[in-house]
Amino acid sequence: MFKCKTSPEVGGMGHSVKRKEDARFLHGKGKYTDDVKLPGMLHMVIVRSPYAYAKILSINKEKALAIDGVLAVITGEDLAQYNLHWMPTLLSDSQMVLPTDTVMHQSQEVCAVIATDRYIAVDGAEAVDVQYEPMKAIVNPFKALDEDAPLLRPDKEGQKDNHIYHWERGEREKTDAAIAAADVVVKERIHLPRIHVASIETCGVVASYDKDTEKMLIYLTSQAPHAIRTILALVAGHVGLSEEKIRIIAPDIGGGFGGKVPVYPGYVIAIAASFLIGKPVKWIEDRSENLVNGFARDYHMDCELAATKDGKIQAFKVSTLADHGYTDSSANPSKYPTGMFSICTGSYDYEHAFAELDAVYTNKAPGGVAYRCSFRVTEAVHAIERMVDKLAAEIGKDPAQLRFENFIKKEDFPYASPLGWSYDSGDYKQTLEKAMDMIGYADYKKEQAEKRAQGKLMGIGICTFTEVVGAGPSKDFDILGIKMFDSAEIRVHPTGKALARFGTKSQGQGHETTYAQILAEELGIPYTDIEIDEGDTDTAPYGLGTYASRSTPTAGAAAAIAARKLRDKGKKIAAHLLEVSEEDIEWEVGKYFVKGAPEKSKTIQDVAFAAYTNFPEGMEPGFEATHYYDPPNLTFPNGAYICVVEVEEETGAIDVKRFVAIDDCGNIINPMIVEGQIHGGLTQGIAPAMYEGIVYDDEGNVLNGTLMDYLVPTAVESPHWETGHTITPSPHHPLGAKGVAESPTVGAPPAIANAIIDALYPLGIKHLDIPITPDKVWDAIQVAKAKA
Ligand code: CDP
Repeated sequence: MFKCKTSPEVGGMGHSVKRKEDARFLHGKGKYTDDVKLPGMLHMVIVRSPYAYAKILSINKEKALAIDGVLAVITGEDLAQYNLHWMPTLLSDSQMVLPTDTVMHQSQEVCAVIATDRYIAVDGAEAVDVQYEPMKAIVNPFKALDEDAPLLRPDKEGQKDNHIYHWERGEREKTDAAIAAADVVVKERIHLPRIHVASIETCGVVASYDKDTEKMLIYLTSQAPHAIRTILALVAGHVGLSEEKIRIIAPDIGGGFGGKVPVYPGYVIAIAASFLIGKPVKWIEDRSENLVNGFARDYHMDCELAATKDGKIQAFKVSTLADHGYTDSSANPSKYPTGMFSICTGSYDYEHAFAELDAVYTNKAPGGVAYRCSFRVTEAVHAIERMVDKLAAEIGKDPAQLRFENFIKKEDFPYASPLGWSYDSGDYKQTLEKAMDMIGYADYKKEQAEKRAQGKLMGIGICTFTEVVGAGPSKDFDILGIKMFDSAEIRVHPTGKALARFGTKSQGQGHETTYAQILAEELGIPYTDIEIDEGDTDTAPYGLGTYASRSTPTAGAAAAIAARKLRDKGKKIAAHLLEVSEEDIEWEVGKYFVKGAPEKSKTIQDVAFAAYTNFPEGMEPGFEATHYYDPPNLTFPNGAYICVVEVEEETGAIDVKRFVAIDDCGNIINPMIVEGQIHGGLTQGIAPAMYEGIVYDDEGNVLNGTLMDYLVPTAVESPHWETGHTITPSPHHPLGAKGVAESPTVGAPPAIANAIIDALYPLGIKHLDIPITPDKVWDAIQVAKAKA
């Protein structure tokens, strides 16, 4: 168990101190991109395509320009003059900023109206007359690979069909052979549908170009401001926007979840507009735009799990078709086009695995956002956890027992997975036992048997997942060549108070509190005396930002090591002040003392003061340290979730009775914040499991593009989440911590799906794709009854 080293007042690791940032957020004083108002600021509204696939015949700006207050209508042709009409995606595909001839998905940006206020810009957008020639859209990703399917990307040299890439990992032949020889093989095609990243704040930008200084100041809803600055400089350097002239400030962000990592065309158009007009330009995406642009998931996974008749897992194979829309704009590390999907072998020890994926173009919005997920881990965990339950049902074994018999054992860590990961630590048995105790698993099993005897539908679902977060070690992880380290810079002022800056960017995760707690732990300076600053590329050290639960594994580690550098310098100063040699100085959180004479001591504050006023001769003055942390490995948080549901046979209504989530994220910095992260993530887990999914018709129209039709769960739909934790520290992280923010979003959907399928199993229903809605359940029940 973790034991706090500091008092609650100092507030180091393990203390549930209240969030420092809440004073501002709870009083409505957060400063978001839309709160930025600059003198002379113009407003931009985007005209979007009503068609999923169409030729643009003409764009007539006249009526729009005739409106008082409309200053410009920017088209693809306008941007083409500066070679800014296309941009690279993070995975080296290409994406239109504005089209010159063809639109490739419904709601794609067609042109943008710049006006003196937003209302006028909206009027202007309505007055732009665009003539289209609609074409037959490809909506079904399987049909996109048909030989006679029209080529969607003729602009790409050498592109002969709609196939983007093939990826594979593992041993195909050995896995196939193991599957062929196995006693039992369960198979399923599992689809994880397209969903939205419906954060409270939509995307937005205020771009302000100063022609005199040639500087571009950009306020941006960005989870990764430094990387975006570099990309912008690479894209627009040829028109004079070089990196030192660009300053990106990511102010407060109202939820990112991966949706604020990519560069959206709207950002680039607004930046280009400000550059051309020489005035600040604001673009704030409205809710409808946010709901039809971008996406997460959309993997069709053909899974096969092989085992002995007693349930010893032997091999897993998964072949996936990924629908990327019209361009691959997934925000994944360069060497990992499918993200960390190869974690799909899960928490179980077996020898053979093979995963492959084919990505295709369709006439849908691009995105492939790692929605609160460390790059496709949600898909991977859903695949293995559904299949393990399917195997348990097939051989008639309790799904908990099956898991216990197949878990990677505590003593087997570091564990080399068959698809190439080195899991750092875990105690899966303990975590599942804790979840079973907490929920009262045995009693529910009895209750279920009784209910089944009465013809009632009750289900118990388990998910025991392994996550992989903290991208990542520079040998393997980069985005467009930029290595995925992260950074911390600490300045301790003469009075012992501090300012620390990071390359990450909080979007509500509480970094202002938890980073201060890490420094309090390492230095003994109270967390309330430490200001945390992130998101301004002119002041923060370079870092790759916050997504994929990477902040604690990377920047959190950087903070600890930078603090230790300070402590080393402080030791020299303390020795000087106490007039002993450095070897005679010992450290205890917050103070240095003379070995064997603890009454002779200097506090960290005394030492900080001396660093500016009375430092040893020859020493560099000041009390500052910086560290760029290149993690040696990723961290592998894990958890055991159990869900109990009842399903009403007459209506298909699903009632989530209980949900217990036991998480293991190693040592915990702030238990209250972690619990908050888990609660939010679980709600974002029930969302795709039971409610969310983008629905297209055959023409590529989005049928649920408003919050009236696309049901984002709220507190009303959320069950009472019961949480707990086990602790297996990460052996390679300086604080023993692992990331946590995404575990619940990853673990909840299969637990819920497994529970619902378990409830329906007596009717002969063996699988349903998420979202498992009442009408889907009702339909399945009718089909099952008709067959019976
Ligand atoms: O990258 P992101 O901040 O989204 O994810 P994270 O590193 O998992 O951290 C989410 C929040 O939980 C941060 O405020 C962390 O400091 C906190 N956390 C914690 O208190 N203890 C951990 N072991 C992991 C995260």
